[in-house]
Amino acid sequence: MNYARSLIGIFACSIVLAGCGNGSGLRKEADRKGLVLGVAVQAGDVFDPKSISLVKGDFNLMVPENTMKWSVLRPIKDFWNWSDMDSMVAFAERHNMRMKGHAFVWHQQNPPYVNALKTRDAAIALLTEQITEVMTRYKGRIAEYDIANEVIADDGTLRETVWLKAIGPDYLDIAFSAARAADPAAILVLNDYSNEYEGEVKADAFYEFVRDLKERGVPIDAVGFQLHLEAKRPVDVKALRSNIRRFGDLGLGVSFTEIDVRVQIPSTEERVREQDEVYGTLLDVALTEPNVRGFIMWGYTDLRSWIPQFFSGYGYGHIYDRQMNRKSSYFVLKERLAR
Ligand code: G3I
Repeated sequence: MNYARSLIGIFACSIVLAGCGNGSGLRKEADRKGLVLGVAVQAGDVFDPKSISLVKGDFNLMVPENTMKWSVLRPIKDFWNWSDMDSMVAFAERHNMRMKGHAFVWHQQNPPYVNALKTRDAAIALLTEQITEVMTRYKGRIAEYDIANEVIADDGTLRETVWLKAIGPDYLDIAFSAARAADPAAILVLNDYSNEYEGEVKADAFYEFVRDLKERGVPIDAVGFQLHLEAKRPVDVKALRSNIRRFGDLGLGVSFTEIDVRVQIPSTEERVREQDEVYGTLLDVALTEPNVRGFIMWGYTDLRSWIPQFFSGYGYGHIYDRQMNRKSSYFVLKERLAR
């Protein structure tokens, strides 16, 4: 139901957007194809002229890379740091872009008063308040949210987090229900990494977990595959497609939510070719599986990338270089979008 509604939304959005994309960027082709083509942006991006031109020219959705995370948005319990979120939402509206929120339930980037939660009642009250406050403020303006992020551990068990410990295993039922109540039109997503290939331990556990949520009536609309990939590992198209389809059989959409393709530094011609192949293959899959709703990149320039900080010796993962020039992966996407 909700997924059908989201497709209608995408279609309507693409019609509206068709007239307003920047003619030379990726966005025009994405709009023409009805693809939600997104990017994670940092707070400063919506104030910097070069970034503004790229973001609005290439993408029709934006997601705050860090700005909506709990420790940034509400560093202390009685202070809400709304200004950067408000600027991003206003920017998205001004440029007819969809906006995605990221993320309420997570085990990282939480302030001390969240990590200190001990009782079920206090944790439910705070989580419900956070979700309700944000989704009411941006009702009708933020189209979709990662309600929860990375709740499955690498071994396939439910991750030990403050939410699991304080509330118990029904914390996601509570989070998704609060979200649906706050903004019934928003698309509610469960996001994770290493969940893209059917047959892998974590991916299969993630699928079973989601199937159970769905069967119990938890209001979830889509799952997110983050897809922080490494160039030298080719995409397993068969396992990716079959995984996408089994979520489709549950009535769920799939979004590619945090795409980047890291390369060992220094990049070589061969590594760049591998990277291009991964980007192009992912886009082909996104365009040809009917329940894939979004192709969202986790940043756009190597100049401001999370990758080198987290993967020593790696970088070069995005479609613009450090001088904000388009890389070959950009042109691969453009060419495939134009087909
Ligand atoms: O804001 C502080 C700044 O005041 C301080 O001087 C500086 C010193 O290191 O740190 C700044 O905070 C950093 C923050 O990004 C904002 O730039 C943190 O150290 C840094 O750890 C944090 O990294 C973010 C990471 O999530 C946090 O876990 C990355 O930018 C962000 O790209 C990354 O995003 C996650 C998704 O949310 C979930 N999926 C995985 C993805 C990649 O890790």
